[in-house]
Order: sequence, then structure tokens, then C-alpha cells
Amino acid sequence: MEVVILPGESEMAELAADAIERVLSAVDAPVLGLATGSSPLPTYRELIRRHRENGLSFATARVFLLDEYVGLPAGHDQSYRRFIEREFVDHVDLPITSLSGPSDSAEGETSGPEYEAIIADVGGVDIQLLGIGSDGHIGFNEPGSSLGSRTRFKTLTGATRSDNARFFDGDVDAVPRHVITQGISTILEARHLVLLAAGATKAGVVAQAVEGPVTATVPASALQFHPHVTVIVDEAAASSLARAEYYRETYRHKPGWQRI
Ligand code: GLP
Repeated sequence: MEVVILPGESEMAELAADAIERVLSAVDAPVLGLATGSSPLPTYRELIRRHRENGLSFATARVFLLDEYVGLPAGHDQSYRRFIEREFVDHVDLPITSLSGPSDSAEGETSGPEYEAIIADVGGVDIQLLGIGSDGHIGFNEPGSSLGSRTRFKTLTGATRSDNARFFDGDVDAVPRHVITQGISTILEARHLVLLAAGATKAGVVAQAVEGPVTATVPASALQFHPHVTVIVDEAAASSLARAEYYRETYRHKPGWQRI
């Protein structure tokens, strides 16, 4: 796993946006896997800026979401589809029909295989952005999720519902109990994984995911199996990494063409 430690959110966003821009310029019909949560927001703002100022185009791209709440009314402000529309898609030239989420075609558990078939039809995901939950989840694969899991219905832990209550005016009871999420093995099929984590609250879990044993108890640790993962963290989120100095040195001496 490559770990890149950067001073702050703007440098992190720039590097993640560079990785996406590279896919957009290298691939005719680029397939982007996007994540919700607060970690990727600066990256979306940077991509929107590049679209407005430099003409970066998403016209031929497809976008797939990692996960979605089950049970929110269609168009609910906190549904992950609305979130990604509001924070990204509404501001660029991606056709709205090129955005898909895991509950588009059916409710709950039945839509997993259909969703995966749509992703497979377009040749798989070129680059997948990820955040990490405070309990080590990726997508909504809570601790204990099978490392071989596919897109499916899941029940959220109390901890994740409390974490996400901030998006529901602090009301934990308003946070849905159920979700549909790409599985861990689905996520691992994307060709490049870019995980973003910032802030001291993520330090422990980032260290477990990157340097701890691979275990279903820390779902993000499964990324260690992937041949091309870039973990982009700020100094605070890197503060529990035992090999931080080595990661810094590796990145500092990286040939420019290998930047991400
Ligand atoms: C949610 C999402 C995850 C996201 C996580 C972390 O649970 N399902 O995809 O990574 O939150 O969110 P944040 O980036 O706000 O810390």
C-alpha cells in the first residue's frame, strides 16, 4: 500500500483530483467510483474547480456510488444519491443518467447482483475513492463483514449511526438502520483505490488498516490485498503510523511520472 502524508486537506484534494484527472484523460469511457461522507468533499470541490477553470470534462464518464441508505424516501436530502448530486454532479458536465447507485433498480438485497452487472457491463471501476469509518468500515461494510462480500443489504452498527447522526440534525433515530453497500470484494475489483482520511479521530483506525493484520474486524485492512492502493492522509490521521517516516521518504523520492 502506498501511504502519502500531506499537510492538509487542499494538498490531499489536489492529489486525489490528479488521480481522477489522469483516468479521465487516459480512458475513453472512464468509470469513477465515488464515495460520500465528508472526507472526499475537498476533492469534489477541486474537481469542480478544474471543470470550471480548466474545462476538465466528465461528459463521457460513468459514476457508481459505493453505498446507499435503505428506507429513505426517494430524493431525501441525505440519500447518498442526492448527496453526490449536490456536492459534485450538479456542478460538472456529467450527464445525470451516467450516475448510478446501488438501490437504483430495486430495493434492498435484491438489487446487489443487478448493480454489479451494470458495473461489469461498463468494464469495471477505473478508480474508486474511499473514506474510512471510525470503526474501520469502507462503504458500509461494518466490522465482521466477509472479506469476500458482494453488494448486499447490511444493518448499520450503533456506532456508525451515531457518527452519521450529524447529517440528520444530530438525531440518531433519523439515521436509517439499513443500507445497501458494495461488498469488500466488489470494492477490491476497482483498478485503483484511493482512500482519504483526515484528522486525529482517524489516526488509530488508519494505522490498523494499513499496518495491522488483515481482519474482517477492520474491513479497510482488506485493502492490503489490492495491488494499487493509495492512502492519502493528513499529519493528524498519520500520527499513529509506525512507518510514517518511511512513507514520507518513499513519496519524497518518487519519480515524477509515478506521482500517483
Ligand atoms: C459513511 C460512508 C462511508 C464513509 C464514512 C466515513 O459511513 N458510508 O463511505 O467513508 O462514512 O465518513 P467521513 O468521511 O465523513 O468520516
